[in-house]
Amino acid sequence: MQGTLRDIHAQRLLILDFGSQYTQLIARRVRECGVYCEIYPFDITAAEIAEFGPAGVILSGGPETVTEGTTPRIPESIFELGVPVLGICYGLQAMAAQLGGEVVASELREFGHAQIRSEATSNLLAPVFANANAVDVWMSHGDKVAAMPAGFVCTASSDNAPYAAIEDPQRQFFGVQFHPEVTHTDNGEALIRRFARELCGCQGEWTAANIVDDAIASVRAQVGTDKVVLGLSGGVDSSVVAALLARAIGEQLTCIFVDNGLLRKNESEEVRAAFSGAMGAGSLAELNIVTVNAQEEFLSQLTGIDDPEAKRKVIGATFIDVFEREAKKLRDVNWLAQGTIYPDVIESAASKYGKAHVIKSHHNVGGLPERMTLKLVEPLRELFKDEVRKIGLHLGLPPSLIHRHPFPGPGLGVRILGAVKHSYADVLREADAIFIQELRAAGLYDQVSQAFAVYLPVKSVGVVGDARRYEHVIALRAVETIDFMTARWAHLPYDFIECVSNRIINEISGVSRVVYDVSSKPPATIEWE
Ligand code: XMP
Repeated sequence: MQGTLRDIHAQRLLILDFGSQYTQLIARRVRECGVYCEIYPFDITAAEIAEFGPAGVILSGGPETVTEGTTPRIPESIFELGVPVLGICYGLQAMAAQLGGEVVASELREFGHAQIRSEATSNLLAPVFANANAVDVWMSHGDKVAAMPAGFVCTASSDNAPYAAIEDPQRQFFGVQFHPEVTHTDNGEALIRRFARELCGCQGEWTAANIVDDAIASVRAQVGTDKVVLGLSGGVDSSVVAALLARAIGEQLTCIFVDNGLLRKNESEEVRAAFSGAMGAGSLAELNIVTVNAQEEFLSQLTGIDDPEAKRKVIGATFIDVFEREAKKLRDVNWLAQGTIYPDVIESAASKYGKAHVIKSHHNVGGLPERMTLKLVEPLRELFKDEVRKIGLHLGLPPSLIHRHPFPGPGLGVRILGAVKHSYADVLREADAIFIQELRAAGLYDQVSQAFAVYLPVKSVGVVGDARRYEHVIALRAVETIDFMTARWAHLPYDFIECVSNRIINEISGVSRVVYDVSSKPPATIEWE
């Protein structure tokens, strides 16, 4: 993005990734302090580092051990930049080893809560020890620093890590064995803030209001007076792109909402309402939305197909056909807007190194641009999901839309096991609506990360009143997760599940039994197909 009134990317931190599961969390915490940062793999070149021009560097944790010679190392040029450097866990160990200290395997692995004690005054740790000389932190390490490099002092210790925090006040090099980025670490946020704002001297320009202003100016500069088309799905990302582009280019934007017959109950009405101000959005300009009813087209394309991957492909391809047809009707469109977000960018970069492993081929509109020769506008490319939500709220989108659970591109198509039928989709829509309505009524909706019903076309016997029923089964699924890569099944109260089950069986004909899914991910996935 190019700067406008002020360049909100000018003061930025570089985060080098050594493979920790928490690297994205570090970046999110830095951004929460109002400081822009980007994540790069640890083997970035000196020239790339110089070009990035960071105000400070954070070295992430990682699964390897510096006691072996072939494991990742910090590029030497990092130590010559003259900016503060903070090593976390593996980052600390690599820094200690490379600057002349010693790292050894611990006799005891430390995993989970530990207590650190203050050992010396430290500018970095001052906010951590603001109210106590000992605080709880989150540890996860097998190695430890056994001797500090020259110039360093020890600022905190724990029972299993004598050098739990060290620093070289002269060169402004800091290292912590614990993980300040996780919420289990007391005042971890304050430590990151101290590093980013005070020690690296960043002003805190990365705010929702500034991000919106910057994105608007960038989009205007990018597309000029051209027309832009956007596939609106009702999900958070495409909705925020729509709201942003509506602000930036108004009438030049047309949104295409495809009703593929695999949407949730009232989905299409809710999306329209959200953008017409009927849900209290107020300040949002009304969007040009073309709603395409393609239910029959999708269902007929799906006839006779019951393999999950084949269904995904058919749904993806049909979506492209419909979208392409509609986009062609709009004359002189040059741009396609997409809701790509920063984790997608990082993950597709990671896959170059062979890290990503495809379990399911997720459907998105990634196949569109090449076939349609449209150029891409991706105004959320730099943002994490929580930032997308913040700017969505800032733009006036209703909180109910912003905090919606994710819904997969192929929709109910992957929640009806096997062959998809109109009648199954209708039953599933009703069951899902009851489940979600009850979750909201019980105040549980926001406590779970994703919840939905699944249609199982197996027959089971039941009895309602005096009559025998021989009908299909509905499974309920609710999970708690941070990143959707791993998830725990949500321990919803039994009384609650009972109430949902009763309502579904009593109110929906065609269902004789309700079951609750108690599988976590891994080994199960969140969706059933
Ligand atoms: P799984 O089932 O892989 O799901 O554990 C992880 C998250 O991704 C969503 N999901 C999809 N999203 N297209 C999407 O846009 C897809 O094909 C797709 N499959 C799964 C799923 O709902 C969960 O949030």
